[in-house]
Amino acid sequence: MNVVILAAGMGKRMQSDLPKVLHALAGKPLLSHVIDTARSLSPTRCCVIYGHGGDAVPSRLAADDLQFVLQQPQLGTGHAVMQALPCLDDSQPTLVLYGDVPLTSAMTLRTLAERAGSDRLAVLTVEFDDPTGYGRIVRDNGRIVRIVEQKDANESERAIREVNTGILIAPTRALKSWLARLSNDNAQKEYYLTDIIAMAVKDGVAVESAQPAHAWETLGVNSKVQLAELERIHQRNVAHALLERGVTLADPARIDVRGELVCGRDVEIDVGCVFEGRVELADGVKIGAHCVLRNAQVGKGTAIKPFSHIEEASIGSAAQIGPYARLRPGTALGDEVHVGNFVEVKNSSFGAQSKANHLAYVGDATVGARVNIGAGAITCNYDGANKHRTVIGDDAFIGSDTQLVAPVTVGRGATLGAGTTLTKDAPPDALTVSRAKQVTIAGWQRPAKPRKQD
Ligand code: UD1
Ligand code: MG
Repeated sequence: MNVVILAAGMGKRMQSDLPKVLHALAGKPLLSHVIDTARSLSPTRCCVIYGHGGDAVPSRLAADDLQFVLQQPQLGTGHAVMQALPCLDDSQPTLVLYGDVPLTSAMTLRTLAERAGSDRLAVLTVEFDDPTGYGRIVRDNGRIVRIVEQKDANESERAIREVNTGILIAPTRALKSWLARLSNDNAQKEYYLTDIIAMAVKDGVAVESAQPAHAWETLGVNSKVQLAELERIHQRNVAHALLERGVTLADPARIDVRGELVCGRDVEIDVGCVFEGRVELADGVKIGAHCVLRNAQVGKGTAIKPFSHIEEASIGSAAQIGPYARLRPGTALGDEVHVGNFVEVKNSSFGAQSKANHLAYVGDATVGARVNIGAGAITCNYDGANKHRTVIGDDAFIGSDTQLVAPVTVGRGATLGAGTTLTKDAPPDALTVSRAKQVTIAGWQRPAKPRKQD
């Protein structure tokens, strides 16, 4: 099929300089949700009609399989679809979607497409208790005969509760002939796509309808209030899907997935966690409260304790991270590694069973296995212009409050005494320490404050 996505509207009620369809739902532009759903239907052509916001929409979302067509000025939904006509493959039916209706499921669209087949028109409709604002579906003996817009409807038509969602599919050659005959002789002086329904009936083309599995699939975004409502619906759906797959969520209303979260068996996630990009949690992983994970892989049985921030990092199995750990891009931790509170790791690898349990910065370092990094140890990886690497061999012991001035290497089994400023390589299996000699000055007097005169 061809897919035409209408995304030219201005979205005044968003009160924003950003075009409406670029506002994010679950971390991704509204229009991207619609494009991704369209892609899942393997369309032959996919055409996006844009208008408000200049080139912002095509420049943000350009892709080989998409054609962007400017609609300027915007003279209505029928006029919008007309702009797409040169892009369409006449031998395939054309599905019309809205760029600001992000949650329609592929299944609902497939059902609609099946109703239409190759020679019928099919409209996705839904019944609302309050249909105000929508186009009403007018039926005669159960058959759809036309759609009337709210502003053009009379009293009895306004009482109809079945409404047009805006999503429809039509045979393309017929669509072209109907669009050529549209007029803007109506209350809004717009070319209404909905007028093609009556034309189809007149031409003897069967008009079918389908209903979505859930009414929220047809909800559009016109304001930040509606955006927030759809975000919650989407997050609730994601949380329910995780629960169905056996993930334990302390509270399904307090998790946000902005991307793809892949979980093994017996994963537990506490409240307030945010997952961005692609995150993989292996069997038995536990995520404590208020963690943020972005593009990360966590191995079997690992525990991420509360308030940890993990970005573009991989963690082995049976590791313990946090509370308050920060793993920055390029971090690769082996099995049974411990990274504790106020430890920052960047672009560094840790071999199995290594530990940095408190207050450390490990940047641009290759850390072997079974290394112990003491509290307050830091790699001085940056000289103001260049970054340098620190290499720490297996079984090394890095004393508290040491500075490793990179580039520098600590040999296997080496020990650095507390407080060492390491500027030259430390040989293996030896104690290296740089420390001023401790002295005690007998009889020294602490300066006294002068006594107040009264
Ligand atoms: C439209 C339908 C109405 C339906 C409702 C569902 C028509 C005439 N009416 O009404 O039956 O119940 O949607 O929400 O089709 N757009 C463009 N270019 C334009 C005009 C609109 O790209 O010139 C896009 C908008 O960005 C939006 C969509 O088309 O994504 C619908 O436009 P909107 O103005 O919201 O249509 P409604 O008046 O609500
Ligand atoms: Mg309108």
